[in-house]
Amino acid sequence: MCGALRLSDAGKPAVLMGWVNRRRDLGNLIFVDVRDRTGVTQVVFNKERNPALHAKAGELRNEYVIAALGKIRQRVPDTVNKNIPTGEVELIAEELRILNEAKQPPFLPGDTVLPNEELRLQYRYIDLRREAMQRNIELRHRVAIAIRDYLSAQGFFEIETPFMTRSTPEGARDYLVPSRVQPGSFYALPQSPQLFKQILMISGFDKYFQIVRCFRDEDLRADRQPEFTQIDLEMSYPQPERVWEVVEGFLTAAFKAGGHEIKPPFPRMSYDDAIRQYGSDKPDMRLPAMTDVREAFAPENLQTLGVSATLPVVAIRIPRVGELSRKERDDIKPLFKAKGGAKLFEDFKRLEKNFPEATSAVRKKAGTEADDLIVIVAGDGKPGGHPSEGGVKPEVKQHDHAVYTSAGLLRVALAQRYAAKHGAFSKTGDPGKDYRFLWVTDFPMFEYDEEGQRWAAAHHPFTSPHERDMDKLESDPGAVRALAYDVVLNGTELGSGSIRIHRQDIQRKIFHALGMTEEEARARFGFFLEALEYGTPPHGGIALGLDRIAMILAGAESLREVIPFPKTARAVDLMVDAPTPVSEAQLRELGIQVKKT
Ligand code: AMO
Repeated sequence: MCGALRLSDAGKPAVLMGWVNRRRDLGNLIFVDVRDRTGVTQVVFNKERNPALHAKAGELRNEYVIAALGKIRQRVPDTVNKNIPTGEVELIAEELRILNEAKQPPFLPGDTVLPNEELRLQYRYIDLRREAMQRNIELRHRVAIAIRDYLSAQGFFEIETPFMTRSTPEGARDYLVPSRVQPGSFYALPQSPQLFKQILMISGFDKYFQIVRCFRDEDLRADRQPEFTQIDLEMSYPQPERVWEVVEGFLTAAFKAGGHEIKPPFPRMSYDDAIRQYGSDKPDMRLPAMTDVREAFAPENLQTLGVSATLPVVAIRIPRVGELSRKERDDIKPLFKAKGGAKLFEDFKRLEKNFPEATSAVRKKAGTEADDLIVIVAGDGKPGGHPSEGGVKPEVKQHDHAVYTSAGLLRVALAQRYAAKHGAFSKTGDPGKDYRFLWVTDFPMFEYDEEGQRWAAAHHPFTSPHERDMDKLESDPGAVRALAYDVVLNGTELGSGSIRIHRQDIQRKIFHALGMTEEEARARFGFFLEALEYGTPPHGGIALGLDRIAMILAGAESLREVIPFPKTARAVDLMVDAPTPVSEAQLRELGIQVKKT
């Protein structure tokens, strides 16, 4: 292979096959770097030794596919290339075959400046030849194999579930596949194998996993793709801790495959604490927690500031940022997205001038250090400052939540802004290696859907409520906690799971609490409700995003860097140009008519 040759190979014959990475023509000597997936080796064509061969080498262009046969030689000392592992040797060519020519590509795999992403996606096969992409795809492969091996060794079976199926509610829209033989009927591509894996528990396969593609028609972001891959698992009779242990085990194996040692068990935190301390259900633990400093201020201080005395006053501190200039302070204002009347005080210095006692208490309470950036987020104290948000949730709690989460979003946005300059995310200043995992537990069972004016499942409707909250299902849904958990890494949700409902009567109750009539429940999930009646063991599981794990391990900013053929933010595959309209004949066969808009 082109990346394999070393000094110890000098004197041996070799054949190298690969792409012309670079050609340098020095007159009597032509140097060609031949590249394959493992690296590059320099091949030398010498005019004096073999004029015909030298002339043939002159025809080579970038990305031609060639085979070069010759002898490996130690390079003379001043031509050694210390930057590559094969840099001490070269191949002296004795024969050259051009296996295929190549058009001049729109960009070269070896280019130091990346072309725009559209071009990369359109010519993905060229883009994938780049060393960084080759490395990412290999990393992803190693991670997936490590996870498979680990789970298989733990007694899990990998079992495939259908892609052409019925809708599973995971909160996104379905991709539909029309049926030709039953015109007007559609399969849904699975948003996850949720119900099939539960049915596998009913079927007696008590430890299941699958590295499986899922499909969701939802608004895309850097960490979302319309088709993505889950590490999906389910087991019978587990406590949540048993599921966590399995996940910690395979993540340890996966991160080891990616060259990093991580140490389970991961810390655990309830959803309520996560919101209070980090203003997020996926806290980034590389940054210090926020502190409620309401008590540092006297009631009249709060009044002067126009701040509510009944809502949290949250101090955010970001280490190593130091004091901000006036311009910088102005620049951070747009990072603050106020929810429900939350207010930002970005000028802590001014607060210190006006409220010396209170601010010194704030510093003490929040444990600030000299070079910390401190900002305060509080609830608006103006009369009418809490617009009614509807729903049946206790008002104050909801406004508390708004203050905490506005602060939480700002905390991360600030750290991101200053990360490059100040290493705000990590003590070592190297955010790439500081992996802080966390289990977030005891999520609310329901969240209020303002738009639909009803309660919706916070995870999915097959999640088991806490035993102790069963009696609140009807009377106070907002207070019901679920046996649901997320595994979070550096502010990204890696995975989500729960202990499931295994009793048909409780499953019905949950559907009812979600406002589903008996008929609706039967129409959508009748097969599942029936299956629950035939001896269902208690069970639970989780699914993690493989793409997200690979993205973080690769140090990439987008899932597109670790998915060979991804889609754009508009869900388009630019290489094959999908989706596309289809022929009239095909539509007719499917009994489908397209409305022209
Ligand atoms: P959930 O919907 O939370 O749970 O998904 C689990 C994990 O899958 C990943 N993920 C995605 N990755 C990329 N693009 C997307 N569009 C996308 N959507 C989700 C995330 C997420 O944490 N059936 C349940 C799991 C269970 O209860 O066992 C489920 O699918 O990393």
